[in-house]
Amino acid sequence: MHTISDYQGYFLEYLSQKNTTKEPKNLYEPISYILSLGGKRLRPTLVLMAAEIFGGSYKEALDAALAVEVFHNFSLIHDDIMDDAPLRRGKETVHEKWDVNTGILSGDAMLINAYQLFENYDGETFKELAKLFTKTAIEVCEGQQYDIDFETRDDVTIPEYIKMIEYKTAVLVGAALKMGAIVADASENCTASIYDFGRLLGLAFQLQDDYLDAFGDPKTFGKQVGGDIIENKKTFLYLKALEFASDDEKKQLQGLFSLNPEDPTEKISTVKQFFETTGAKKATRSEIELYTQKAFLTLDKLDISEEKKSLLRLFGENLMNRSV
Ligand code: IPE
Ligand code: IPE
Ligand code: MG
Ligand code: MG
Ligand code: MG
Repeated sequence: MHTISDYQGYFLEYLSQKNTTKEPKNLYEPISYILSLGGKRLRPTLVLMAAEIFGGSYKEALDAALAVEVFHNFSLIHDDIMDDAPLRRGKETVHEKWDVNTGILSGDAMLINAYQLFENYDGETFKELAKLFTKTAIEVCEGQQYDIDFETRDDVTIPEYIKMIEYKTAVLVGAALKMGAIVADASENCTASIYDFGRLLGLAFQLQDDYLDAFGDPKTFGKQVGGDIIENKKTFLYLKALEFASDDEKKQLQGLFSLNPEDPTEKISTVKQFFETTGAKKATRSEIELYTQKAFLTLDKLDISEEKKSLLRLFGENLMNRSV
């Protein structure tokens, strides 16, 4: 086994070999742009880690890792169009730097390219990877549609929210780990347990993403702070604030989330205050901790060394304490 940052390094080296542009420039330059903007590279790192945890070599898992990261970056280009987001990883989003049509088509090409990368695997491995990928990709679309539908609904429940983030975010984290396990030819029990570990960690991860969207430091966060508030996203913070608020506060908060003011500065600061004073901010922190602990419990079912479990726990703890 190697360290988490070793796996990240192996992936970055592979990515820099593969990330080249060709003609037509307006299709490929945005792809190269988004892929070289950085990012945490969590998902490909998980693919490589899982391959070695289950006795394979990370080298065999590089194409699956690249497929997952290309798919993730495709989903970000389209997500930024849907969320009307100006910033990604501290730089202009693709649809701002080019235009919406460019974002759509470059995104489409990335989705296809991700799928194409599985052609580098043979027989049963190819079949299993492709099958997992299609199932996951369609779930991400479903999650993204729920996310958008919820913007204009005022009766979203916490279970509905959890299902939405499970689909839009958590399943891909689970799939990343499972792909590494598939490449290593792990048993069905192992692939199922590692998927579940990733899914639960992915739920904690999206809760943290929502938390940082409101409370991240604008200097380092890399995305527009308050973007979810501007877009009336029904996040855990918002749903908990409603649950804890007095009738009067509830009316105010719902009122703010039915508006789209030209200048959102005041809306953002008032809503953030509600998140603090109602206790929603604190409840979100506990929920992140809860899902991380739930993820760690699934490791008990895995027959792998304590050293390997520690590496997975370390990964989970880093996620929970991140600021970007
Ligand atoms: C952002 O993902 C989109 C979500 C699913 C929350 P990341 O936070 O992993 O983004 P990068 O790749 O590190 O920029
Ligand atoms: C994104 O969720 C999920 C996907 C991209 C599929 P968000 O909309 O919260 O992600 P960010 O905050 O823009 O990265
Ligand atoms: Mg977004
Ligand atoms: Mg979104
Ligand atoms: Mg977000």
